Amino acid sequence: MKFFIDTANLDQIKEAASLGIIDGVTTNPSLIAKEGITGAENIRRHYEAICALVNGDVSAEVIATDFENMVREGEELSAIHPNIVVKVPITRDGLKALSYFAKRGIRTNCTLVFSAGQALLAAKAGATYVSPFIGRLDDISQEGLDLIRSIRSIYDNFVFGTKILAASIRSPLHIVECARIGVDVVTCPLSSLLSLLQHPLTDIGLEKFLSDHRKSQQAAAAMST
Ligand code: G3P
Repeated sequence: MKFFIDTANLDQIKEAASLGIIDGVTTNPSLIAKEGITGAENIRRHYEAICALVNGDVSAEVIATDFENMVREGEELSAIHPNIVVKVPITRDGLKALSYFAKRGIRTNCTLVFSAGQALLAAKAGATYVSPFIGRLDDISQEGLDLIRSIRSIYDNFVFGTKILAASIRSPLHIVECARIGVDVVTCPLSSLLSLLQHPLTDIGLEKFLSDHRKSQQAAAAMST
């Protein structure tokens, strides 16, 4: 399973990359706006900077909602760097754009997926990745992980090349459950990844190892004096 980092923050991407477990980055217009980046040229430069930090796929989302402009924006985005994956929302025009890009070898990430039917259409259109949003379903009292299970079983029934990229991750349990279900990629903020590290018995065990080591060193030092 791959880990992508879901942010447009360069410091966070740098820090995540330094852990050695990051395979790519996902962004969206809200994450770009959060960094205060405005204007097409600045946004293009920002994607270049992200691609320079991580050796893996970087999702960059189109803003247009009509087919012609989605295609124009998508082609511009994919020309920025070979690792750019064009993120397209699952709408009627989005579906058409996904097939257009697939026929031309431009890789895509179909976003804002909230149902198995949408995921099925995205795969039929040749999306490289499909992004089901787990947390936003949980937010409205629907079981986000159930959607992941459905998509996994549908994709396993056929020979779809589309990879499941679980998004809108809100907890370490989401990540572990996604791994159990067998998603291809999980994208989440650095804080969620780091929370996987936490276990009180690790802290207690490490403290005991270090204290035993200290005691034996002190005893050895005392004997030699
Ligand atoms: O990038 C898409 C997705 O991960 C957004 O997550 O937390 O805004 O629902 P969130």
